[in-house]
Amino acid sequence: MSSTQLCDSPERYGLVSRLLHWGMAAVLLWQFTSVVIHVLFEKTAIDKFFWGTHKSVGALLMLLILLRVLWALANLRKRPPAVSSWSITGHIVLYILMFAIPLIALIRQYGSGKAFSPFGVSLMQGFDESNKIEWMIDLGSNFHGLLGWTLLVAALGHIAAVLWHYLRGDRYVLERMK
Ligand code: HEM
Ligand code: HEM
Repeated sequence: MSSTQLCDSPERYGLVSRLLHWGMAAVLLWQFTSVVIHVLFEKTAIDKFFWGTHKSVGALLMLLILLRVLWALANLRKRPPAVSSWSITGHIVLYILMFAIPLIALIRQYGSGKAFSPFGVSLMQGFDESNKIEWMIDLGSNFHGLLGWTLLVAALGHIAAVLWHYLRGDRYVLERMK
């Protein structure tokens, strides 16, 4: 992260965009580590540790994607031009998934009637669990995990695309996000 220019320019992404991009990539790596360990080593000590962070880290990702969308919109006309219409579509898909996945989980969390305090910050007070809201729970149960795995595949595809550009000599693609 060499340049200290905050906003984006047609030549490169600014500091805020780069911090949001690499910061979210690191937090998502943690989040997917938690789900992969949960699936492979359920109920072990390492699972209890990582899975215990999943909801709070997911709520943090919700906050980060909201900030990132606002920042992207504010910088829309200044950003480096898209490499291709494929890359525009790919980035939009990533944005939609990064927004929908935690949103759906938070809706399910609310519908369960259970209180929710990510990192100790009271976000949902909870209510009588006998009044839980079934459609909210069904929405989460049907789509949260499914879309979560879809994001993992899409992110791996994104990384492969960047690598492909790098190897065929389009190094500017990585340079402008570094
Ligand atoms: C971008 C953020 C998130 C990602 C990428 C993500 C990803 C995932 C994935 C891939 C699974 C499926 C695991 C499996 O197949 O067993 C899962 C499960 C789960 N997640 Fe998340 N999650 C995120 C945010 C959240 C949030 C904010 C909450 C709660 C407030 C949450 C609660 C859960 C719960 C309770 C499960 C187990 C039930 C289920 O499979 O739906 N997640 N998550
Ligand atoms: C090793 C990991 C990663 C590398 C090397 C990487 C690299 C890059 C590069 C070079 C760009 C600029 C592309 C261009 O200007 O056309 C970019 C943009 C982007 N990347 Fe990644 N990326 C990584 C991980 C991720 C992850 C995990 C996500 C989200 C799931 C993500 C989402 C995006 C999005 C949405 C953009 C569009 C610009 C923005 O709004 O931030 N990237 N990435």
